[in-house]
Amino acid sequence: MKFFIDTANLGDIAEAQALGVLDGVTTNPSLMAKEGITGAENILAHYQKICDLVDGDVSAEVISTDFEGMVSEGEKLAALHPQIVVKLPLIADGIKACKYFSDKGIRTNVTLVFSAGQALLAAKAGATYVSPFIGRLDDISTDGLNLIAEIRQIYDNYAFDTQILAASVRHTMHVIDCAKLGADVMTGPLSSIKGLLKHPLTDIGLAKFLEDYKKGNQ
Ligand code: E4P
Repeated sequence: MKFFIDTANLGDIAEAQALGVLDGVTTNPSLMAKEGITGAENILAHYQKICDLVDGDVSAEVISTDFEGMVSEGEKLAALHPQIVVKLPLIADGIKACKYFSDKGIRTNVTLVFSAGQALLAAKAGATYVSPFIGRLDDISTDGLNLIAEIRQIYDNYAFDTQILAASVRHTMHVIDCAKLGADVMTGPLSSIKGLLKHPLTDIGLAKFLEDYKKGNQ
């Protein structure tokens, strides 16, 4: 299972990268705005900084909602760096743009996916990644993890190459449950990755080992 971090914060990205378990980064316009990154040139420069920090794929989302606009934006983003994956919303023009990029060998991440039918469309259009938003489904009392299971079954039935990128992951149990269900990738905040480290018995055990070592090595 690949671990992506869902942020545009360079400090968090560097910290996850230093841990040695990071496979990529996802961003979206809200995350860029949160870091105060505005203006076309600054946005491109920020993507470049992220690509310089990590080895893996970096999803960069288009703002356009029409086919021509998505193609023009996506081509600029893809040309910026080989690690860039063009992130497209799951609307009709987004699916058309996904097919266009897939035919040209440009990698895509189809985002804002909330149903198995939408995920099927993204796979048919040749998406590299599909991003079902599990946390936002949970937010409206709908089981986000069930969507991961449905997509896994459909993709396996037909051996689609599209990777399931569980998105809107909010905490460590989401990560573990997505792993159990066979999501190819998860993207979440730094806390969802660092949370996996925690166990009180590890801390108690380590303290005891060190105490016993000290006793015999004064
Ligand atoms: C996915 O690519 C999105 O950036 C993200 O996971 C959305 O998460 P949120 O629902 O916590 O905003």
